Amino acid sequence: MKPVEIAILGFGTVGSGAYRILNEHAKAIARRAACPIAVKRILVRDASRERAVPTPPGVLTESFEEILADPDIRIVVEALGGEEPALGYTLAALEAGKDVVTANKLALALHGRRIFETARAAGRRIAFEGAVAGGIPVIRALREGLTANNIERITGILNGTTNFILSAMTDRGMEYQDALREAQSLGYAEADPSADVEGFDAAYKLAILASLGFEGYVDPRRIPRKGISTVTAQDIALADKFGYRIKLLAGAERADGSLHLSVTPSLVPKGHPLANVNGAYNAVTIEGDSVGQLMLYGKGAGDLPTGSAVVSDIIELVRFPDLSESEIIWQDREMELSDSTARPSEYYVRLLVKDLPGVLGQIATMLGVHGISIATVTQELDNAGRATLLIFTHECERSSVEAAAGTLRTMPFVLSIANILPLWAGTRG
Ligand SMILES: NC(=O)c1ccc[n+]([C@@H]2O[C@H](COP(=O)([O-])OP(=O)(O)OC[C@H]3O[C@@H](n4cnc5c(N)ncnc54)[C@H](OP(=O)(O)O)[C@@H]3O)[C@@H](O)[C@H]2O)c1
Repeated sequence: MKPVEIAILGFGTVGSGAYRILNEHAKAIARRAACPIAVKRILVRDASRERAVPTPPGVLTESFEEILADPDIRIVVEALGGEEPALGYTLAALEAGKDVVTANKLALALHGRRIFETARAAGRRIAFEGAVAGGIPVIRALREGLTANNIERITGILNGTTNFILSAMTDRGMEYQDALREAQSLGYAEADPSADVEGFDAAYKLAILASLGFEGYVDPRRIPRKGISTVTAQDIALADKFGYRIKLLAGAERADGSLHLSVTPSLVPKGHPLANVNGAYNAVTIEGDSVGQLMLYGKGAGDLPTGSAVVSDIIELVRFPDLSESEIIWQDREMELSDSTARPSEYYVRLLVKDLPGVLGQIATMLGVHGISIATVTQELDNAGRATLLIFTHECERSSVEAAAGTLRTMPFVLSIANILPLWAGTRG
Protein backbone atom coordinates (compact mmCIF):
# COMPACT_ATOMS: atom_id res chain seq x y z
CA MET A 1 0.00 0.00 0.00
CA LYS A 2 1.32 3.47 -0.86
CA PRO A 3 2.23 5.27 2.37
CA VAL A 4 0.66 8.54 3.43
CA GLU A 5 3.45 11.10 3.18
CA ILE A 6 3.91 13.76 5.80
CA ALA A 7 6.28 16.64 6.64
CA ILE A 8 7.51 17.74 10.05
CA LEU A 9 8.30 21.42 10.60
CA GLY A 10 11.05 21.56 13.23
CA PHE A 11 13.42 18.84 14.40
CA GLY A 12 13.89 19.81 18.03
CA THR A 13 12.47 18.03 21.07
CA VAL A 14 8.97 17.40 19.69
CA GLY A 15 9.77 16.99 16.00
CA SER A 16 12.55 14.47 16.63
CA GLY A 17 10.48 12.61 19.25
CA ALA A 18 7.60 12.17 16.82
CA TYR A 19 10.01 11.13 14.06
CA ARG A 20 11.63 8.50 16.29
CA ILE A 21 8.27 7.01 17.27
CA LEU A 22 7.09 6.93 13.64
CA ASN A 23 10.24 5.01 12.70
CA GLU A 24 10.62 2.76 15.71
CA HIS A 25 6.94 1.73 15.76
CA ALA A 26 6.39 1.90 12.01
CA LYS A 27 4.75 -1.52 11.62
CA ALA A 28 2.31 -1.14 14.52
CA ILE A 29 1.51 2.41 13.44
CA ALA A 30 0.77 1.25 9.88
CA ARG A 31 -1.61 -1.36 11.30
CA ARG A 32 -3.37 1.14 13.56
CA ALA A 33 -3.59 3.81 10.87
CA ALA A 34 -4.62 1.18 8.28
CA CYS A 35 -1.82 2.57 6.08
CA PRO A 36 1.95 3.09 6.35
CA ILE A 37 3.12 6.62 7.18
CA ALA A 38 6.32 8.04 5.69
CA VAL A 39 8.10 11.25 6.74
CA LYS A 40 9.07 12.78 3.40
CA ARG A 41 10.52 16.11 4.57
CA ILE A 42 11.63 17.75 7.82
CA LEU A 43 12.05 21.52 7.92
CA VAL A 44 15.05 22.89 9.86
CA ARG A 45 17.01 26.11 9.85
CA ASP A 46 20.31 24.42 8.96
CA ALA A 47 20.04 21.14 7.06
CA SER A 48 23.82 20.61 7.07
CA ARG A 49 24.07 20.48 10.87
CA GLU A 50 24.65 17.02 12.36
CA ARG A 51 21.64 15.86 14.35
CA ALA A 52 21.34 13.53 17.35
CA VAL A 53 18.56 11.66 15.52
CA PRO A 54 19.80 10.57 12.06
CA THR A 55 17.64 10.92 8.96
CA PRO A 56 18.08 9.54 5.41
CA PRO A 57 19.76 11.88 2.90
CA GLY A 58 17.41 14.46 1.39
CA VAL A 59 14.80 14.39 4.17
CA LEU A 60 16.03 17.55 5.94
CA THR A 61 15.17 20.74 4.09
CA GLU A 62 15.42 24.46 4.71
CA SER A 63 12.58 25.25 2.31
CA PHE A 64 9.01 25.41 3.57
CA GLU A 65 7.90 26.33 0.03
CA GLU A 66 9.16 22.95 -1.19
CA ILE A 67 6.92 21.21 1.38
CA LEU A 68 3.98 23.44 0.55
CA ALA A 69 4.28 22.79 -3.18
CA ASP A 70 4.51 19.01 -2.79
CA PRO A 71 1.04 17.57 -3.53
CA ASP A 72 1.99 14.19 -2.09
CA ILE A 73 2.51 15.63 1.41
CA ARG A 74 -0.90 15.26 3.01
CA ILE A 75 -0.14 16.15 6.62
CA VAL A 76 2.12 18.85 8.05
CA VAL A 77 3.26 18.57 11.67
CA GLU A 78 4.05 22.00 13.13
CA ALA A 79 6.75 21.50 15.78
CA LEU A 80 8.57 24.83 15.41
CA GLY A 81 7.03 26.73 18.32
CA GLY A 82 6.45 30.47 18.76
CA GLU A 83 4.17 32.79 16.86
CA GLU A 84 5.89 33.29 13.50
CA PRO A 85 6.68 31.71 11.14
CA ALA A 86 4.73 28.86 12.81
CA LEU A 87 1.33 30.55 12.40
CA GLY A 88 1.95 31.59 8.80
CA TYR A 89 3.16 28.09 7.88
CA THR A 90 0.11 26.50 9.55
CA LEU A 91 -2.30 28.73 7.64
CA ALA A 92 -0.44 28.21 4.37
CA ALA A 93 -0.43 24.42 4.82
CA LEU A 94 -4.19 24.40 5.43
CA GLU A 95 -4.83 26.64 2.44
CA ALA A 96 -2.70 24.30 0.34
CA GLY A 97 -5.06 21.45 1.26
CA LYS A 98 -2.99 19.74 3.94
CA ASP A 99 -4.16 18.67 7.40
CA VAL A 100 -2.09 20.06 10.28
CA VAL A 101 -0.95 18.52 13.55
CA THR A 102 0.39 21.05 16.02
CA ALA A 103 1.91 21.05 19.50
CA ASN A 104 2.05 24.84 19.52
CA LYS A 105 -0.21 26.01 22.37
CA LEU A 106 0.86 29.62 22.00
CA ALA A 107 -0.21 29.87 18.34
CA LEU A 108 -3.36 27.86 19.01
CA ALA A 109 -4.43 29.80 22.10
CA LEU A 110 -3.75 33.23 20.60
CA HIS A 111 -4.81 32.55 17.00
CA GLY A 112 -7.11 29.54 17.31
CA ARG A 113 -10.04 31.33 15.72
CA ARG A 114 -8.07 32.24 12.62
CA ILE A 115 -6.51 28.78 12.38
CA PHE A 116 -9.84 26.97 12.65
CA GLU A 117 -11.60 29.39 10.30
CA THR A 118 -8.87 28.74 7.74
CA ALA A 119 -9.18 24.99 8.27
CA ARG A 120 -12.94 25.10 7.83
CA ALA A 121 -12.72 27.23 4.71
CA ALA A 122 -10.17 24.82 3.25
CA GLY A 123 -12.08 21.72 4.38
CA ARG A 124 -9.03 20.57 6.32
CA ARG A 125 -8.44 19.48 9.91
CA ILE A 126 -6.24 20.48 12.84
CA ALA A 127 -5.21 18.04 15.55
CA PHE A 128 -3.48 19.33 18.68
CA GLU A 129 -3.19 16.65 21.37
CA GLY A 130 0.47 17.59 21.97
CA ALA A 131 -0.36 21.23 22.70
CA VAL A 132 -1.56 20.63 26.28
CA ALA A 133 0.04 18.45 28.95
CA GLY A 134 2.50 16.65 26.64
CA GLY A 135 1.84 12.92 26.71
CA ILE A 136 -1.44 13.11 28.63
CA PRO A 137 -4.38 12.57 26.23
CA VAL A 138 -6.49 15.32 27.80
CA ILE A 139 -7.67 16.86 24.52
CA ARG A 140 -9.11 13.54 23.40
CA ALA A 141 -10.66 13.04 26.84
CA LEU A 142 -12.54 16.34 26.48
CA ARG A 143 -13.38 15.98 22.78
CA GLU A 144 -14.44 12.34 22.87
CA GLY A 145 -14.51 10.53 26.19
CA LEU A 146 -16.44 13.16 28.13
CA THR A 147 -18.86 14.51 25.53
CA ALA A 148 -21.85 13.12 27.46
CA ASN A 149 -21.09 15.54 30.29
CA ASN A 150 -21.56 19.16 31.11
CA ILE A 151 -18.06 20.01 32.29
CA GLU A 152 -18.17 21.84 35.59
CA ARG A 153 -14.56 22.24 36.51
CA ILE A 154 -11.06 21.72 35.11
CA THR A 155 -8.00 22.10 37.33
CA GLY A 156 -4.54 21.44 36.04
CA ILE A 157 -0.88 21.43 36.87
CA LEU A 158 0.00 22.21 33.29
CA ASN A 159 3.52 23.56 33.40
CA GLY A 160 6.38 21.18 34.18
CA THR A 161 8.98 23.92 34.68
CA THR A 162 7.12 25.65 37.50
CA ASN A 163 6.16 22.31 39.02
CA PHE A 164 9.82 21.25 39.00
CA ILE A 165 10.82 24.51 40.73
CA LEU A 166 8.05 24.31 43.37
CA SER A 167 8.86 20.63 43.99
CA ALA A 168 12.56 21.44 44.49
CA MET A 169 11.60 24.22 46.91
CA THR A 170 9.28 21.84 48.79
CA ASP A 171 11.51 18.77 48.90
CA ARG A 172 14.85 20.46 49.48
CA GLY A 173 13.94 23.80 51.05
CA MET A 174 15.50 25.70 48.13
CA GLU A 175 14.83 29.38 47.48
CA TYR A 176 13.06 30.25 44.22
CA GLN A 177 16.14 31.67 42.45
CA ASP A 178 18.29 28.60 43.29
CA ALA A 179 15.56 26.20 42.14
CA LEU A 180 15.14 28.22 38.93
CA ARG A 181 18.89 28.07 38.25
CA GLU A 182 18.84 24.29 38.77
CA ALA A 183 15.86 23.94 36.40
CA GLN A 184 17.78 25.96 33.80
CA SER A 185 20.94 23.88 34.19
CA LEU A 186 18.92 20.65 33.73
CA GLY A 187 17.16 21.98 30.63
CA TYR A 188 13.72 22.24 32.29
CA ALA A 189 13.66 26.04 32.09
CA GLU A 190 14.57 28.43 29.28
CA ALA A 191 17.27 31.10 29.64
CA ASP A 192 14.34 33.56 29.67
CA PRO A 193 11.93 31.64 31.92
CA SER A 194 9.13 34.24 32.01
CA ALA A 195 6.69 32.33 29.77
CA ASP A 196 6.74 29.50 32.29
CA VAL A 197 7.30 31.14 35.68
CA GLU A 198 4.89 34.04 35.08
CA GLY A 199 2.12 31.61 34.10
CA PHE A 200 1.72 32.54 30.39
CA ASP A 201 2.29 28.96 29.21
CA ALA A 202 -0.26 27.59 31.71
CA ALA A 203 -2.75 30.29 30.61
CA TYR A 204 -2.41 29.27 26.94
CA LYS A 205 -3.05 25.64 27.85
CA LEU A 206 -5.94 26.54 30.14
CA ALA A 207 -7.51 28.62 27.37
CA ILE A 208 -7.41 25.58 25.05
CA LEU A 209 -8.87 23.23 27.67
CA ALA A 210 -11.56 25.72 28.69
CA SER A 211 -12.48 26.39 25.05
CA LEU A 212 -13.08 22.66 24.58
CA GLY A 213 -14.65 21.97 27.95
CA PHE A 214 -16.99 24.95 28.01
CA GLU A 215 -17.63 25.15 24.27
CA GLY A 216 -16.65 28.68 23.39
CA TYR A 217 -13.50 30.56 22.53
CA VAL A 218 -11.48 31.69 25.55
CA ASP A 219 -8.92 34.43 24.99
CA PRO A 220 -5.84 33.59 27.10
CA ARG A 221 -4.99 37.29 27.49
CA ARG A 222 -8.13 37.72 29.58
CA ILE A 223 -7.29 34.98 32.08
CA PRO A 224 -6.19 36.47 35.45
CA ARG A 225 -2.64 35.22 35.90
CA LYS A 226 -0.06 35.21 38.65
CA GLY A 227 3.25 33.36 38.40
CA ILE A 228 5.44 31.68 40.99
CA SER A 229 8.27 34.19 41.27
CA THR A 230 6.85 35.68 44.49
CA VAL A 231 6.65 32.30 46.25
CA THR A 232 9.43 31.91 48.82
CA ALA A 233 10.87 28.98 50.75
CA GLN A 234 9.15 30.47 53.79
CA ASP A 235 5.72 30.30 52.08
CA ILE A 236 6.37 26.67 51.18
CA ALA A 237 7.46 25.82 54.75
CA LEU A 238 4.50 27.61 56.36
CA ALA A 239 2.03 26.01 53.96
CA ASP A 240 3.57 22.63 54.75
CA LYS A 241 3.23 23.24 58.49
CA PHE A 242 -0.51 23.80 58.03
CA GLY A 243 -1.07 20.79 55.75
CA TYR A 244 -0.70 22.27 52.25
CA ARG A 245 1.60 22.18 49.22
CA ILE A 246 1.91 25.20 46.94
CA LYS A 247 1.17 24.40 43.28
CA LEU A 248 0.71 26.57 40.21
CA LEU A 249 -2.91 25.72 39.39
CA ALA A 250 -4.68 26.55 36.17
CA GLY A 251 -8.36 26.45 36.95
CA ALA A 252 -11.63 26.86 35.05
CA GLU A 253 -14.99 26.54 36.69
CA ARG A 254 -18.56 27.06 35.67
CA ALA A 255 -20.49 28.39 38.65
CA ASP A 256 -23.71 30.38 38.90
CA GLY A 257 -23.93 30.54 35.12
CA SER A 258 -20.51 32.21 34.77
CA LEU A 259 -17.08 30.97 33.79
CA HIS A 260 -14.24 31.65 36.21
CA LEU A 261 -10.66 31.15 35.09
CA SER A 262 -7.34 31.74 36.77
CA VAL A 263 -3.71 30.76 36.83
CA THR A 264 -2.25 31.24 40.28
CA PRO A 265 -0.06 29.57 42.88
CA SER A 266 -2.50 27.98 45.32
CA LEU A 267 -2.39 26.01 48.54
CA VAL A 268 -3.52 22.44 47.86
CA PRO A 269 -4.36 20.11 50.79
CA LYS A 270 -1.54 17.57 51.08
CA GLY A 271 -3.99 14.67 50.93
CA HIS A 272 -5.28 15.59 47.46
CA PRO A 273 -3.59 13.81 44.52
CA LEU A 274 -2.81 17.17 42.86
CA ALA A 275 -0.58 18.05 45.84
CA ASN A 276 1.50 14.97 45.04
CA VAL A 277 2.15 15.71 41.38
CA ASN A 278 5.86 16.46 41.50
CA GLY A 279 8.81 17.37 39.32
CA ALA A 280 8.16 17.73 35.61
CA TYR A 281 4.89 15.79 35.76
CA ASN A 282 1.51 17.28 34.82
CA ALA A 283 -1.99 16.40 35.96
CA VAL A 284 -5.50 17.51 35.09
CA THR A 285 -8.65 16.92 37.11
CA ILE A 286 -11.95 17.25 35.28
CA GLU A 287 -15.38 17.27 36.82
CA GLY A 288 -18.40 16.43 34.70
CA ASP A 289 -22.00 16.27 35.84
CA SER A 290 -22.35 12.60 34.90
CA VAL A 291 -18.86 11.19 35.35
CA GLY A 292 -18.00 13.02 38.58
CA GLN A 293 -14.33 13.73 39.08
CA LEU A 294 -11.48 12.13 37.17
CA MET A 295 -7.78 12.81 37.06
CA LEU A 296 -5.23 12.34 34.30
CA TYR A 297 -1.56 12.21 35.26
CA GLY A 298 1.66 11.80 33.31
CA LYS A 299 4.67 13.38 31.66
CA GLY A 300 3.77 16.86 30.50
CA ALA A 301 6.75 17.39 28.20
CA GLY A 302 9.73 15.73 26.59
CA ASP A 303 10.49 14.24 23.18
CA LEU A 304 8.80 10.84 23.43
CA PRO A 305 5.83 11.80 25.68
CA THR A 306 4.91 14.75 23.43
CA GLY A 307 5.84 12.67 20.38
CA SER A 308 3.32 10.08 21.60
CA ALA A 309 0.55 12.71 21.49
CA VAL A 310 1.64 14.08 18.12
CA VAL A 311 1.85 10.65 16.50
CA SER A 312 -1.59 9.71 17.87
CA ASP A 313 -2.94 12.76 16.01
CA ILE A 314 -1.17 11.73 12.80
CA ILE A 315 -2.63 8.22 13.08
CA GLU A 316 -6.12 9.63 13.60
CA LEU A 317 -5.88 11.91 10.57
CA VAL A 318 -4.63 9.05 8.40
CA ARG A 319 -7.18 6.57 9.68
CA PHE A 320 -10.21 8.84 9.41
CA PRO A 321 -9.42 11.07 6.42
CA ASP A 322 -13.04 11.93 5.73
CA LEU A 323 -14.09 12.92 9.21
CA SER A 324 -15.48 16.42 8.96
CA GLU A 325 -13.93 19.16 11.05
CA SER A 326 -15.83 19.51 14.30
CA GLU A 327 -13.85 22.20 16.08
CA ILE A 328 -16.48 24.87 15.83
CA ILE A 329 -15.67 26.35 19.22
CA TRP A 330 -12.99 28.70 18.00
CA GLN A 331 -15.13 30.05 15.20
CA ASP A 332 -18.08 30.45 17.46
CA ARG A 333 -18.87 32.86 20.26
CA GLU A 334 -16.18 34.18 22.57
CA MET A 335 -16.80 33.09 26.15
CA GLU A 336 -17.78 35.75 28.65
CA LEU A 337 -15.41 35.42 31.59
CA SER A 338 -16.82 36.53 34.90
CA ASP A 339 -15.08 38.95 37.19
CA SER A 340 -12.62 36.63 38.90
CA THR A 341 -12.19 39.01 41.82
CA ALA A 342 -15.75 38.15 42.87
CA ARG A 343 -15.03 34.42 43.13
CA PRO A 344 -14.94 33.51 46.85
CA SER A 345 -12.01 31.60 48.25
CA GLU A 346 -10.17 31.14 51.49
CA TYR A 347 -6.83 32.91 51.58
CA TYR A 348 -3.35 32.57 53.05
CA VAL A 349 -1.99 36.01 53.95
CA ARG A 350 1.61 36.42 55.15
CA LEU A 351 2.65 39.80 56.57
CA LEU A 352 5.74 41.21 58.19
CA VAL A 353 4.81 43.67 60.95
CA LYS A 354 6.45 45.57 63.80
CA ASP A 355 6.05 43.66 67.05
CA LEU A 356 4.01 46.26 68.93
CA PRO A 357 1.01 45.94 71.26
CA GLY A 358 -2.39 46.14 69.56
CA VAL A 359 -1.17 45.36 66.03
CA LEU A 360 -3.12 42.14 65.71
CA GLY A 361 -6.32 43.76 66.96
CA GLN A 362 -6.07 46.62 64.47
CA ILE A 363 -5.45 44.24 61.59
CA ALA A 364 -8.38 42.01 62.59
CA THR A 365 -10.67 45.05 62.86
CA MET A 366 -9.57 46.39 59.48
CA LEU A 367 -10.10 42.97 57.82
CA GLY A 368 -13.57 42.86 59.39
CA VAL A 369 -14.37 46.24 57.87
CA HIS A 370 -13.56 44.71 54.45
CA GLY A 371 -15.85 41.74 55.17
CA ILE A 372 -13.00 39.31 55.79
CA SER A 373 -13.14 37.05 58.80
CA ILE A 374 -10.07 35.28 60.14
CA ALA A 375 -10.05 31.48 60.43
CA THR A 376 -6.65 31.21 62.16
CA VAL A 377 -3.75 33.50 62.87
CA THR A 378 -0.24 32.64 64.03
CA GLN A 379 2.82 34.77 64.57
CA GLU A 380 6.55 34.16 64.69
CA LEU A 381 8.85 36.78 66.24
CA ASP A 382 12.38 37.45 65.05
CA ASN A 383 15.26 39.09 66.97
CA ALA A 384 14.77 42.44 65.28
CA GLY A 385 11.42 43.34 66.84
CA ARG A 386 9.42 42.09 63.88
CA ALA A 387 6.75 39.44 63.60
CA THR A 388 5.65 37.30 60.68
CA LEU A 389 1.87 37.09 60.82
CA LEU A 390 0.21 34.23 59.01
CA ILE A 391 -3.52 34.64 58.58
CA PHE A 392 -5.86 32.06 57.06
CA THR A 393 -9.15 33.71 56.16
CA HIS A 394 -12.61 32.24 55.81
CA GLU A 395 -14.12 32.42 52.33
CA CYS A 396 -14.14 35.94 50.96
CA GLU A 397 -13.99 37.68 47.58
CA ARG A 398 -10.63 38.42 46.03
CA SER A 399 -11.69 42.04 45.58
CA SER A 400 -12.10 42.28 49.39
CA VAL A 401 -8.63 40.81 49.92
CA GLU A 402 -7.15 43.27 47.41
CA ALA A 403 -8.91 46.21 49.07
CA ALA A 404 -7.70 45.05 52.49
CA ALA A 405 -4.14 44.68 51.16
CA GLY A 406 -4.33 48.31 49.99
CA THR A 407 -5.30 49.43 53.49
CA LEU A 408 -2.63 47.21 55.11
CA ARG A 409 0.04 48.98 53.04
CA THR A 410 -0.94 52.28 54.63
CA MET A 411 -0.73 50.99 58.22
CA PRO A 412 2.51 52.26 59.80
CA PHE A 413 3.32 49.01 61.61
CA VAL A 414 3.00 46.85 58.47
CA LEU A 415 6.51 46.39 57.04
CA SER A 416 5.49 44.29 54.03
CA ILE A 417 2.75 42.09 52.63
CA ALA A 418 4.89 39.07 51.83
CA ASN A 419 2.32 37.00 49.95
CA ILE A 420 -1.39 36.40 49.47
CA LEU A 421 -2.41 33.07 47.97
CA PRO A 422 -5.78 31.34 47.56
CA LEU A 423 -6.51 27.93 49.06
CA TRP A 424 -7.71 25.48 46.46
CA ALA A 425 -11.18 24.32 47.42
CA GLY A 426 -10.69 20.76 46.16
CA THR A 427 -13.60 18.94 44.69
CA ARG A 428 -17.04 20.38 45.20
CA GLY A 429 -19.68 18.36 46.99
N1 LIG B 1 9.47 20.50 24.43
C1 LIG B 1 8.38 19.91 24.89
O1 LIG B 1 8.45 18.99 25.69
C2 LIG B 1 7.03 20.35 24.39
C3 LIG B 1 5.88 19.74 24.92
C4 LIG B 1 4.63 20.10 24.41
C5 LIG B 1 4.55 21.05 23.41
N2 LIG B 1 5.69 21.64 22.93
C6 LIG B 1 5.54 22.61 21.86
O2 LIG B 1 6.10 22.05 20.67
C7 LIG B 1 6.67 23.07 19.85
C8 LIG B 1 8.12 22.73 19.57
O3 LIG B 1 8.84 22.72 20.79
P1 LIG B 1 10.28 22.05 20.92
O4 LIG B 1 10.56 21.98 22.38
O5 LIG B 1 10.37 20.82 20.11
O6 LIG B 1 11.19 23.21 20.28
P2 LIG B 1 12.75 23.13 19.94
O7 LIG B 1 13.39 21.96 20.60
O8 LIG B 1 13.30 24.47 20.15
O9 LIG B 1 12.75 22.82 18.36
C9 LIG B 1 12.31 23.73 17.41
C10 LIG B 1 12.73 23.25 16.03
O10 LIG B 1 12.18 24.12 15.08
C11 LIG B 1 13.19 24.54 14.17
N3 LIG B 1 12.89 25.91 13.74
C12 LIG B 1 12.55 26.95 14.53
N4 LIG B 1 12.30 28.04 13.76
C13 LIG B 1 12.49 27.66 12.48
C14 LIG B 1 12.39 28.30 11.22
N5 LIG B 1 12.05 29.59 11.14
N6 LIG B 1 12.63 27.59 10.12
C15 LIG B 1 12.99 26.31 10.18
N7 LIG B 1 13.10 25.62 11.34
C16 LIG B 1 12.86 26.29 12.47
C17 LIG B 1 14.48 24.48 14.94
O11 LIG B 1 15.52 24.35 13.97
P3 LIG B 1 17.06 24.11 14.35
O12 LIG B 1 17.12 22.66 14.74
O13 LIG B 1 17.78 24.36 13.09
O14 LIG B 1 17.36 25.05 15.47
C18 LIG B 1 14.24 23.24 15.80
O15 LIG B 1 14.60 22.08 15.09
C19 LIG B 1 6.45 24.38 20.63
O16 LIG B 1 5.27 24.97 20.19
C20 LIG B 1 6.29 23.90 22.07
O17 LIG B 1 5.53 24.80 22.84
C21 LIG B 1 6.92 21.31 23.40
